[in-house]
Amino acid sequence: MPISPQFIQELQDKLDIETVVGAQVALKRRGKTLVGLCPFHNEKTPSFTVYPDTRSFYCFGCGAGGDIITFVRRMENLDYVEAVKTLAQSAGLPMPEDGYDDSLFRQRQRLLAANREAARFFNAQLNDPRNRAALDYFLRRGLTPNTIRKFGLGYAPDDWRQLTDHLKEKGFTAQELVLANLTRRSDKNGRTSYYDSFRNRVMFPIIDLQGNVIAFGGRVMDDSKPKYINTSDTPVYKKSNGVFALNFAKNSNENRLILVEGYMDVIALHQAGFTNAIACLGTAFTSEQANLLSRYADEILICYDNDEAGRKATRRALEVLGKTGMKLLVVQMEGGKDADEIIRTYGPERFADLLNGAANRTEYRLLREREKYNLLTDDGKLRFLTAASSILAECGEIEQELYAARLSNEFGVSVESLKAQIRSARGRLRRQAEKEKQQQQMTLLSKSAEDHNNPERRQHLRQARAEETLIASFFRNPDFYHKLKDSVSPDDFVTDFNRRVMRTLCGILDAGLTPELSLFAQEFDPEEMATVTRICRSAETLHNSLQECEDCIAVLKTSQQQTAPQTVAQMSDEEYRRQFAALKEQK
Ligand code: UTP
Ligand code: MN
Repeated sequence: MPISPQFIQELQDKLDIETVVGAQVALKRRGKTLVGLCPFHNEKTPSFTVYPDTRSFYCFGCGAGGDIITFVRRMENLDYVEAVKTLAQSAGLPMPEDGYDDSLFRQRQRLLAANREAARFFNAQLNDPRNRAALDYFLRRGLTPNTIRKFGLGYAPDDWRQLTDHLKEKGFTAQELVLANLTRRSDKNGRTSYYDSFRNRVMFPIIDLQGNVIAFGGRVMDDSKPKYINTSDTPVYKKSNGVFALNFAKNSNENRLILVEGYMDVIALHQAGFTNAIACLGTAFTSEQANLLSRYADEILICYDNDEAGRKATRRALEVLGKTGMKLLVVQMEGGKDADEIIRTYGPERFADLLNGAANRTEYRLLREREKYNLLTDDGKLRFLTAASSILAECGEIEQELYAARLSNEFGVSVESLKAQIRSARGRLRRQAEKEKQQQQMTLLSKSAEDHNNPERRQHLRQARAEETLIASFFRNPDFYHKLKDSVSPDDFVTDFNRRVMRTLCGILDAGLTPELSLFAQEFDPEEMATVTRICRSAETLHNSLQECEDCIAVLKTSQQQTAPQTVAQMSDEEYRRQFAALKEQK
């Protein structure tokens, strides 16, 4: 009995992996991950890791891995459906009726198509001289034509039927348009009529990670109310999950996101070069949004408006985001009520200063550290300065300079010796982080090298690597898949196992779903899920660029002319790593 992917996703929104695994394994938080002793093999030091961001687990000791369904299957020795039933029961969700028809899927595709066509329609209105006021509105707010194009902004004309008529002409039914929330239905005096939901508003399309237009926000151009009208929940949009501009921000490769309140703030920031800005839509910040963000960053800079509502929203965001283990910084918005205003008034440099100011929890950390020591004794001073150096080692150079000077003044030690201390603390930190990362990467690599799920891997290492990079990259960047799917298909894959993984992934992406490991669990047994998890987790080391994907495709396309393959067994670790690196650097 196939179980619908929607149900699996709903299940996972109800049950987080930390709770499910945590009920059986004592877990300790370590940044964004949790670690514990592996329940699948005997160990004394924890190498079992839970990743809430991809809702997965992986053991670096024995190589077990997967999603929550796989976890339950392994722990309780159940088959797939039994495991889903068990989870559904603890989530309090009734199991869906037998099987699922794909009419829902087809409906989603229709609504997405209608949204896309609507976005095109709204955008084209800006070229119509009669709508000059709308274009002027954007230009007056400092947006360039380029920005307008990039965000696909538009205008909904001051009319009751233009969009509805246009979409009907394109073959959409009134019922579909109502479902998409583009059109409303009225039943006055026993007569049914339909009218556009958005009228005389500038339009902001909301685009998901696949590049689908899933909803719209429409703003008035004057002070009338309501200021914004947004698409309400539809079969393709859940407001409480909505994140604006994550489709762009995920490619900024910054490892941190700037969280602002509104559409205009995000757009102004992107235009000013802060391409990692996003806004969470909906009234209250939700844990679904927090989890999604944690898949793409380790750090969040919260830049909410400088008013009571903004402070309240900040408290809520801190609470919800806090649970993800991401590093959180609150930016004091001085000089304007929001990011847009600050940039418009003082320029991007000022905003960058504010961001740096937030990183300035350093002052606070130093103060707290100071309280721990008796600074009247030499020993206390020494120990405080050592601890302070470690704190400063995590900061930027300017901050180091500033605080080293202050501490030097206060304690009568030379700036040079403080800086030397900071440098060595920094080196230690960096080496430690490098080592941990490398060790984990090496484990992932060597585990996959000996992987019996994919026995062809040894013979076709280069192609298998390219396949895995593509899978990992598409898993993280569904939009890349949609851009490249005409130039690569599972049939190009050389190894059978990876081809199966790719085929499943294509199915997920073609259905417009957010890729989740649990959506593979129906096709892959727990043993195989470990490999799937390993491949998808290796996304951490990707470049995350279209170029990288194209390079991998080139490797697969030219694989016929490959010379005799070298087996992993013949390679030294170093050669092995270099081969991996070479693939990434082919540019
Ligand atoms: P703001 O009023 O701060 O919006 O509301 P903004 O984007 O900065 O708009 P400008 O600068 O006045 O043009 C923040 C966010 O709250 C939502 C929107 O997502 C908005 O971007 N909002 C606000 C609504 O959904 N409806 C409203 O009536 C107001
Ligand atoms: Mn604003």
